[in-house]
Amino acid sequence: MTVRETLLALRGLLVAGGIGRSDLEADRILESVLSRSREFFRIHPEAPCGPDVLPRAAELAGRRIQGEPLAYVLGEAEFFGLPFFVGPGCLVPRPETELLVEAVLSLPGKTGFFADWGTGSGCLLASILKERPDFFGWGVDAEASALAWAGRNLQRHGLTGRSKLVLEPDPTAVPIPPASLDFIVTNPPYIPRSALPGLMREVRDHEPLSALDGGAEGMDLIFLFLRVLPVYLRPGGALLMETGGADQVKRLVGEEFPELIMEGFLRDYGGIPRHVRYRRR
Ligand SMILES: C[S@@+](CC[C@H](N)C(=O)[O-])C[C@H]1O[C@@H](n2cnc3c(N)ncnc32)[C@H](O)[C@@H]1O
Repeated sequence: MTVRETLLALRGLLVAGGIGRSDLEADRILESVLSRSREFFRIHPEAPCGPDVLPRAAELAGRRIQGEPLAYVLGEAEFFGLPFFVGPGCLVPRPETELLVEAVLSLPGKTGFFADWGTGSGCLLASILKERPDFFGWGVDAEASALAWAGRNLQRHGLTGRSKLVLEPDPTAVPIPPASLDFIVTNPPYIPRSALPGLMREVRDHEPLSALDGGAEGMDLIFLFLRVLPVYLRPGGALLMETGGADQVKRLVGEEFPELIMEGFLRDYGGIPRHVRYRRR
């Protein structure tokens, strides 16, 4: 079989299985199996594929059709231009979260200590460390299964010497010295519990509940972190947080946190208020 024939067969399987973006997903699956880019497929559609290629690709397509997120099937997701290992136990990094990295890069200072609270795959922690070679970052998470992915990703990107992972669900009990951090980034779970059943099945049935469930209104972890985390920030330190969108941002604009001054919010690619920015008094 050629690349073109294999792609056609894969697309057919995906369409029959009800996968919407079958062209794109067939490309991604074959890229993964052949370790070749889609540019190669376009330039060399008649290149031969060995007899094991379609069965291997079809097996991945089958997992996708069963509802697994594409990133889990491929074992990898891209975030801020870097590849990250992902799979059951960690959230697949989302594009809007990249805006938190950009916000960090606009902070003054070329050295810094920071924490990524709820690090999951470690995508924020590793991307910031990659961009800022003189930074040191803590990655905190409540789940050992998530931290295992973060650890693999820090290793992959050569960042274990400039980072420390902490498994701790209680944010008051983390061994970070008080007032030691220049900034904290966090993308907490923020989906209202009542909205969980309505999520896309690949999210609802596969991504960890602990990365999604934000309690009754989706804001339990948001409020907890805003109350407790400032203790780790030096005076003037920044706290940058992703939220579930306009309603949650609006709610925060009306809230006072004794140790924090709200400096504003950032909109996501869809123009929706998404990230809030505070400074410690
Ligand atoms: C929305 S995910 C974010 C993962 C990653 N930072 C990202 O942006 O893709 C939220 C993460 O917070 C973690 N988490 C939930 N409760 C926590 C807590 N009390 N303390 C620390 N992490 C927590 C979850 O395990 C999950 O990995």
